[in-house]
Amino acid sequence: MSAYDIMLQRRSVRKFTDQQVTDEQIDTLLKAAMAAPSACNKQPWEFYVIKNADTLKSIKGASLFTKMNSTLIIIVAGNTHRALPKPAQDFWVQDCSAATQNILLAATEMGLGACWCGVHPVKLFAQKVQKILNLPSHIIPMSMIQIGYPDQSPEPRTQYNEKHVHVVE
Ligand SMILES: Cc1cc2nc3c(=O)[nH]c(=O)nc-3n(C[C@H](O)[C@H](O)[C@H](O)COP(=O)(O)O)c2cc1C
Repeated sequence: MSAYDIMLQRRSVRKFTDQQVTDEQIDTLLKAAMAAPSACNKQPWEFYVIKNADTLKSIKGASLFTKMNSTLIIIVAGNTHRALPKPAQDFWVQDCSAATQNILLAATEMGLGACWCGVHPVKLFAQKVQKILNLPSHIIPMSMIQIGYPDQSPEPRTQYNEKHVHVVE
């Protein structure tokens, strides 16, 4: 499949089978994540791979929109000790977003399903994840990616809309 086809095929999957994602597949996802661009190549990201059933349950309770039956979650978090100085300090969010999207695209290519669930900037959600994983305050959970073998198949698509295209000639 071409990169373009994978982009269209990537859809949010929220129902998963019981089949486990292997450690080898997790390594591939993490390598895809860390192939992402990052501002000044600071790579201000940390990845928390959650497989433990009790921790999965707690983590899914950290947000209102994350009650899915995945057996794997990757939390992508910003490490503000590696962030750029002001006024560029918040570029870590874009770096972590690029890493998150790379995980979604790699998962799609591997026949896995995934859903990006937002954590930062909702303080309540981020603080709950920090507490569950015992993270210091400079590690800010940005996304919670639910991953597994898909038990639903949303149609590939773009949502192209020319109203949002502004050409400056
Ligand atoms: C920043 C961000 C946060 C999101 N948070 C959630 C979430 O908490 N729960 C959820 O079910 N989907 C979440 N989504 C997935 C969106 O609902 C989904 O991408 C959107 O409806 C478009 O559908 P698609 O991913 O299938 O193209 C999030 C997506 C993004 C980019």
